[in-house]
Amino acid sequence: MINRKQQSARFAWMLAILSLAVASASPASQPAPRSNGLAQTPPVGWSSWNNFGDDINEQIVIETIDAMIANGMRDAGYVFVNLDDGWQRYKGARRDHPLEVDPKKFPRGISYLADYAHQRGMKLGIYSGPGQTTCAGYTGSEGHEAEDARMFASWGVDHLKYDSCCSHREAPKEELQKIFRTMSNALMAQKRGIVLHACHCGWGDIWEWAAGLGVNHWRIGQDISDDFNYPGNREQYYFDVLDQLDRGVGLEKYAGPGHWNDYDMLIVGLDGKSKQLVGTGASNTEYRTHFSLWAMVSSPMLVGADVRKLDPYSLQTLTNKEIVALNQDPAGNVAHKVRDDGDLEVFAKELADGSHAVLLLNRGAATATMTFSPRADLQAPMDRYSIRDLWKHRDLGTYDIPFTTEVQSHEARVFRIRQLATSANGRSVSDAAEQESAR
Ligand code: GAL
Repeated sequence: MINRKQQSARFAWMLAILSLAVASASPASQPAPRSNGLAQTPPVGWSSWNNFGDDINEQIVIETIDAMIANGMRDAGYVFVNLDDGWQRYKGARRDHPLEVDPKKFPRGISYLADYAHQRGMKLGIYSGPGQTTCAGYTGSEGHEAEDARMFASWGVDHLKYDSCCSHREAPKEELQKIFRTMSNALMAQKRGIVLHACHCGWGDIWEWAAGLGVNHWRIGQDISDDFNYPGNREQYYFDVLDQLDRGVGLEKYAGPGHWNDYDMLIVGLDGKSKQLVGTGASNTEYRTHFSLWAMVSSPMLVGADVRKLDPYSLQTLTNKEIVALNQDPAGNVAHKVRDDGDLEVFAKELADGSHAVLLLNRGAATATMTFSPRADLQAPMDRYSIRDLWKHRDLGTYDIPFTTEVQSHEARVFRIRQLATSANGRSVSDAAEQESAR
């Protein structure tokens, strides 16, 4: 007979042996996944690059923050105000120049802007890169990662876009991982949480490993141009809206709270007039489709247009809170393409409250009639469901058959559908309730 004490000693031994076995089963070469706990939903806000290029300054940033508050963008969820390339004082290699803020463009420094943003419930982002120079030729962070991370944190920065300028296309993954791990570790050593964006054109299957290094979002492709569907790649490089969308198909599983596929910044409102970005612009319908798609696939949504001068239609598009909510849904699911009938595609995802977001996309040149069936397309046994149109902001009623509607050329119709509970006798609860109230 063994007593209680002996019994618990045996149990402790068994536990120790078991945990040793589990520990030795995980390969020692695999570094433990790191997470800064940030970006539980995709970052949403503004970035300076798509409209201004490197022609940025303190006045533009202050006016941008003020405009986002006045026009309702901040309250619709656009809280990041991100400086892209061009805030730095020097052009040229880091070995020849320190990394400093340009005192002519930003006379009161970056911490002044960070405070300005924070006092108004917003966040400030900054930009650098792992090379001697950044993509626009300013001094980069190579060899000074720890020092730069400390400097960004001391300024009160909340987001870093760390841009390799599509370099290292053929480099071994270990080399790429080292680049982003070095900056990620440097940021994580700071008390201040800083969201890390690895801007890397999608080389080296970055989606497979970036989250494990603590990266919060990574570009999946080349730069977006201001086009909805340009034949081929403009200048044999740029991706248009549909290129980015297609690039993301199959990558959905890599994204989730804290780590997102980045389809690049929004082009809504640029209208082909950007000082920086190539492209001839898109129609209002196409920009709206682009915005709806980015919300569905849970991409970061950083507006690239000059928000001080947004036309009313673009502003109405960007501040549709029901669409932004699909992007910011706490479940962090990414929409999958659930049906592909050539030009007609259906994307869907489940939301935290159990409802589903469904997007009907018509890539074709003519208006089309599209049908979706919750049973066939969502593989969810919904016999009876309610539908809300998220662009018309209207409940369309209750259905127990597939839903059919018209979708214009290049339009995306977006719906939120909810299953209606069915009682044990097969009658839906709402039926029963209707009959009850009719008595
Ligand atoms: C590119 C990047 C752009 C912008 C630019 C700055 O590589 O994709 O989004 O950041 O560099 O020079």
